[in-house]
Amino acid sequence: MAHRVRIAPSILSADFARLAEQVSLVEAGGADWIHCDIMDGHFVPNLSFGPLVIEALRRSTSLPLDVHLMIENPDAYLEAFARAGAFQLHVHVEVCPHLHRTIARIRELEVRAGVAINPATPLWALEEILPEVDAVILMSVDPGFGGQQLLPRTYDRLRRLRELCRSLGVNPTIIIDGGVNTHNAAHLVEAGAEVLVAGHGIFAHPDPAGAVGALRQAAERAFSRWT
Ligand code: DX5
Ligand code: ZN
Repeated sequence: MAHRVRIAPSILSADFARLAEQVSLVEAGGADWIHCDIMDGHFVPNLSFGPLVIEALRRSTSLPLDVHLMIENPDAYLEAFARAGAFQLHVHVEVCPHLHRTIARIRELEVRAGVAINPATPLWALEEILPEVDAVILMSVDPGFGGQQLLPRTYDRLRRLRELCRSLGVNPTIIIDGGVNTHNAAHLVEAGAEVLVAGHGIFAHPDPAGAVGALRQAAERAFSRWT
């Protein structure tokens, strides 16, 4: 049976010296995607990794690689990440002055196109581009680091994003990224999240495979409340 909520472990909190092993653990635990956080030290105050790591991961897992570009000039790197094996590329609305062109370029590369939005950016910044994208990452923390606390306004933003999509007649995949845990997962799904990204909650756990299952179970409590 297809999962109703998708779980995307973020490798930002994984042990990079044992990356393949850590990814196969969460794969065995039922993860749907592997979320890869790319940071440039400019758009966010941290550095992570680039296309070489995506390429290496591509060889070691069959899970889709969901690539979140937290970088100032994403246009210069789209092709490199697509070639490395991303199945979906997200660019931040805050750094793309020509967003239609950027999204069109991602599609030309035959990769799903997503747009990411920071917690303090008004949702109306998405209005003109929503009909063009396959996915939206609604950031629930200021990006840059794993292990932060989800901002409480996230629930209201999720509901408003849902409403905006409904009013435009579009249906992009809605992804929540930052501070997701077993306590807030069901509330996030109730408010409209379809994919939950979790780094610290999975890889800082002594049993990452079990943590994926626990998060899914917690998230799917939302469905049992509906039925
Ligand atoms: C935030 C990143 C997230 C982060 C999520 O800068 O975009 O993907 O790794 O990690 P947790 O679940 O630890 O907040
Ligand atoms: Zn991310």
